[in-house]
Amino acid sequence: MAVTALYPGTFDPITNGHIDLIERASKLFDVLVVAVAKSSKKQPFFSLQQRCNMAEQVLSGLSNVRVIAFSSLLVDCAKEQQAEVILRGLRAVSDFEYEVQLAGMNKRLSPDIETMFISAAQQYAFVSSSLVREIAALGGDVSEFVHPLVKEQLGLMLPETGSESIQK
Ligand code: COA
Repeated sequence: MAVTALYPGTFDPITNGHIDLIERASKLFDVLVVAVAKSSKKQPFFSLQQRCNMAEQVLSGLSNVRVIAFSSLLVDCAKEQQAEVILRGLRAVSDFEYEVQLAGMNKRLSPDIETMFISAAQQYAFVSSSLVREIAALGGDVSEFVHPLVKEQLGLMLPETGSESIQK
């Protein structure tokens, strides 16, 4: 039986930490659906369409991975995609409490869907989308943390900053 896993997140934007996790998970499941949440509560920096486009482009080399957008309950999205597993990444102990709460609630809402965790690679354990955006906004180099295409999109969206422009 083919097993489909759904990896949800806001991906604002997708980072190398996410990509590493997706690459590893794509070897474990027959189909991996990367589900980009609308996440209105978080007031994302990139639009839902931009976040999906970036994810699609940087993941285009993985044949069993597809990207979708969703604005519904996570468990409803998983059912719609016929996913048996919801996949989440754990970077540090600080992620644990929230993730266990999310998994517990989703289990309650849909007992047939299992949440599974993959630990983030050590070199990405401290990476988050908001930190990447902040570094880029202040003129720092984010090459180590995001795909070149995402770096380019950040550059297009953010005005030039740095000490020089402040001094002027
Ligand atoms: N590498 C790098 N960063 C990672 C990462 C990894 N492997 N794993 C998580 N992160 C970061 C993200 O970049 C993000 O950083 P930010 O907060 O600085 O932007 C942070 O960890 C958490 O983001 P994410 O994994 O996208 O989770 P989320 O909390 O934004 O979204 C959903 C979680 C979308 C799964 C959740 O909100 C949801 O289920 N929404 C649907 C509605 C629903 O069903 N609600 C009821 C749930 S019971």
